[in-house]
Amino acid sequence: MTGKKIVILLGPPGVGKGTQGRRLAEERDWRYLATGDVLREGVKVRPALAEAVKSYMDRGELVPDAFVNELVEALLESSDQPVVLDGYPRTLSQAEALDQMTEKIGWQVHSAILMKVNEEELVDRLTARRVCPQCGEIYNLKTQPPQQDDICDRCGQVLIVRDDDKAEVIRRRLSVYQQLTEPVVEYYRRQGRLTEVDASGSPQEVYAKLWQVTINQ
Ligand code: AP5
Repeated sequence: MTGKKIVILLGPPGVGKGTQGRRLAEERDWRYLATGDVLREGVKVRPALAEAVKSYMDRGELVPDAFVNELVEALLESSDQPVVLDGYPRTLSQAEALDQMTEKIGWQVHSAILMKVNEEELVDRLTARRVCPQCGEIYNLKTQPPQQDDICDRCGQVLIVRDDDKAEVIRRRLSVYQQLTEPVVEYYRRQGRLTEVDASGSPQEVYAKLWQVTINQ
């Protein structure tokens, strides 16, 4: 894939978008853009944002569309590589905004890939997740543990549990996904732009499938 093209990773919380998107972008020399990561970083460096944005995130609610749309447009405008987009669009209004902004700035959504796993597995994955606050590396105590307990293999930082990985917030995030993001899946399906991938195997197996479906992109 060359030029100003976007591959969207869609799927519920915990399905593995971050795990796979980061690796795919690294190995293909694409840019990985995850709105969740960008918002979490923004909250750290801009205290004025923190209260408003963090309160949505900590409750498992979506940050308002207008704010996120503006953020994504600015990020795309500053990119000169193909982009793997994780966590956006998450509402129909965001999907429409993405179509408008890509047309305006000369980008193209190449495909939307839906990663699928059953709900029980999603909750298991999120409950055992640990992340590195420094480099963003994602671990799982059961399936992808760090070599040394609670320490990032890449940068040596102490790993943390994300604030929104508490059981009640996980439930809310899953319900928000069903209500607001499943219509986005339909939006791309109706337009013939959706590819579905079973993401229930090991990370390596899932990666092989994603590699395959993005091979000509
Ligand atoms: P965001 O950070 O995007 O969270 P999410 O969509 O809920 O997705 P996750 O990051 O939880 O899961 P993932 O699919 O990336 O899974 P991962 O690879 O980590 O958003 C957070 C919040 O930000 C939102 O709630 C909202 O408030 C706000 N926000 C973000 N974007 C927004 C937008 N566009 N509009 C408005 N608000 C927005 O994997 C999970 C675990 O499973 C890990 O432990 C991993 O090691 C493990 N794992 C991965 N793959 C496998 C496998 N194949 N087998 C076994 N374990 C696996």
